[in-house]
Amino acid sequence: MKILTIESTCDETAAAIVTDELEILSSVVASQEELHARFKGVVPEIAARAHLERILPVIDETLERANLTLDELDAIAVAHTPGLAGSLLVGLVAAKTLSLALGKPLVGINHLHAHIYACRIASGEDIFPCVGLIASGGHSSLYQCNSPFDFAHLGGTIDDAAGEAFDKVASMLGLPYPGGPAISRVAKDGDPKAYQFPRSFIRDRTRLDFSFSGLKTAVRYAIAGPGKLDFSKIELSDQQISDLAASFQAAVVDCLTAKSILALEQTGLNTLCVGGGVAANQVLRQQLEVAAAAAGAKLIIAPLALCTDNAVMGAIAIEKLKAGIHDDLNLDVAPGLVRLAGK
Ligand code: KG4
Ligand code: ZN
Repeated sequence: MKILTIESTCDETAAAIVTDELEILSSVVASQEELHARFKGVVPEIAARAHLERILPVIDETLERANLTLDELDAIAVAHTPGLAGSLLVGLVAAKTLSLALGKPLVGINHLHAHIYACRIASGEDIFPCVGLIASGGHSSLYQCNSPFDFAHLGGTIDDAAGEAFDKVASMLGLPYPGGPAISRVAKDGDPKAYQFPRSFIRDRTRLDFSFSGLKTAVRYAIAGPGKLDFSKIELSDQQISDLAASFQAAVVDCLTAKSILALEQTGLNTLCVGGGVAANQVLRQQLEVAAAAAGAKLIIAPLALCTDNAVMGAIAIEKLKAGIHDDLNLDVAPGLVRLAGK
């Protein structure tokens, strides 16, 4: 069985062809980073228009690289939740059209579940049941993942997502978008203990939630001075930027790590799977490794290419197809949480 998976939830237009043996026949990701960089965040209308331009060339390229024609596909899968409404619509309409024209089954994908499934693909082994941590630009959530069809939400951010905080703090420090890679780059020369930033809920063992909004404000006060918001006239030295970046990164990493370990304790599970763009962060990866080893848990983190948005992780749709489940043309977008530029 060969399926085409389509991903257009945020600002990457992607398609992949994967088999029921989880073999990746091809994968194409067209990033829109350069279109959104000057706004320091994703602008939904620009994202939707860019998807529209890229979706067909991306699907063509995916088929070409796999040396396949549309007729040779067995099903079409598409991420239809959560994400930006206009972006999701482009992928969904493309998938529905192909499904109808080819007479092939249509399967809807939950983008967050797919981020965790990236660990299944990469490890080559069964990951269920496990605790799943998704830390991306739009989401920071913990799930109890019982099976590919059963993800129970354990907790998540009550305000900004981790990646969103990286992007906004990078903007405050005058670093480029996307902020995650930029912050981790300069943080290498910084002291993570230079600033004592808040780690919300970290000592509260009753909840598996995150909050990064106060942390963002704390960074702003550290730049502008206590209680001051305007830092337009403040000149930071390279060392100050590195120290702020390292201290901010340490606070985010501490929170993500602590709650992931707490989720393992609370669920009694002993496998932790981690995905999403922020999972590309080396300090997070190292700290999770140390903490999981100390907790006696197995840790699977998606490889870098499968952390940020891609269509390969949409192979989770194969699990549905194998179980005889598919959707029909009534499948709709379910945007859920969205991330907007400048907020
Ligand atoms: O999963 P993703 O590609 O898109 C969403 O579904 O949101 O995640 C993108 C987010 C951005 O906020 C970006 O700054 C962050 O992942 N990111 C990182 C790193 N690489 C990407 N955050 C921290 N450290 C990184 N190395
Ligand atoms: Zn994502």
